[in-house]
Amino acid sequence: MVRYGWILLLLVLLAPGRPAPVQALDNGLALTPPMGWNSWYAFRCNVSSDLIRDQARALVSLGLREAGYRYVVLDDCWSGERDADGRLTAVYPRFAGGIAALAQSIHGMRLKFGIYSSRGPRTCMDFHASQDYEAIDAQTFADWGVDYVKYDNCPWEGVSEDELRSRYQLMRDAILATGRPMLYSLSMWSFRDWHPETGHLSRTTFDIEDNRDNMLNRFDVNAAYAAYARPGYWNDPDVLYFGGGMTTTEYQTYFTLWAVSAAPLMISADLRNLPPGTLEILRQREVIAINQDPAGRQAVQLAEAVPGLQVWGKPLSSGEWAITLLNRTPAPADITFDGGSLGWSRYRVRDVWARADRGTAEPLFTAPVAPYGVVLLRVRALP
Ligand code: GLA
Repeated sequence: MVRYGWILLLLVLLAPGRPAPVQALDNGLALTPPMGWNSWYAFRCNVSSDLIRDQARALVSLGLREAGYRYVVLDDCWSGERDADGRLTAVYPRFAGGIAALAQSIHGMRLKFGIYSSRGPRTCMDFHASQDYEAIDAQTFADWGVDYVKYDNCPWEGVSEDELRSRYQLMRDAILATGRPMLYSLSMWSFRDWHPETGHLSRTTFDIEDNRDNMLNRFDVNAAYAAYARPGYWNDPDVLYFGGGMTTTEYQTYFTLWAVSAAPLMISADLRNLPPGTLEILRQREVIAINQDPAGRQAVQLAEAVPGLQVWGKPLSSGEWAITLLNRTPAPADITFDGGSLGWSRYRVRDVWARADRGTAEPLFTAPVAPYGVVLLRVRALP
């Protein structure tokens, strides 16, 4: 009798219709924050196969692929009617050649290809999306050669927390079931504690705007979830929207803050027409190395001795720290890092953007920082 009881319990647990047990998303991807390009903020719905190919070519010719930017992500506005088998097609004639051919040409450039869909029946721009077609769509994406799925949260009205969770996890399980390694980027616009087991990325903020105040706000909101960042899961304060709305100094600040946040570095800009000075910013290898550090830690605030003059620290796998001196005020200012905050009395200092060693500090290091600028240091304790 006892034995049959156990069998019965097992049958009940495994009965069809029950939600699958929570399955972590661990398919070996996103061990460091993904880097690439996204179509949305630069092109909105003006996307086509030709445009995506042109931007991918620019990624290569500008040296961005070699700097680490690998994912080319086609955002909203591509998905057309479903065919007789329920499979999505691409809108005609902008994607006349089909998505599989587009993915193939992106792969031919030694890049990876990403695509967009949404948790509800329609995308935010009212194109077809994946609700109730999760398994078919994940398989279609896999068949097309997709490497990255951005999964948005439209239409957003009247959806319960339980529904959100089960829909996002349904797509995760559908992606895993295809067997194709596809990175899963959650675009729910705010963090939930089930996101790290569900996706490789979670958008912690609403859509970013190409201005300084908005950028700093996204950085702050995203910083609240620093404890969750780890290889395989990253907080996502949205793309690098380099559209010309900020000064070169502010774009350098933007890039630095995203790098030390272990944020995905997804450029959303017309690569044929980048704002002055920003290509050099996007290609700075020592900054990228801090973002891609295998320890996968996100910066936390260490000090703010004067309002608006902040010190942020990101521990690195080498035992060094990346220290950001951030001036959020309109005046130039000196900002001091105190090695004592890490328990250090002596340490070596390198100025990362200047690509220059700055000798030894014990235990204070002070640097002048431009209005809305940063100084990024790499520091190593000395005995
Ligand atoms: C939402 C997302 C954006 C973008 C658009 C597309 O607003 O947050 O990143 O994908 O939808 O419609």
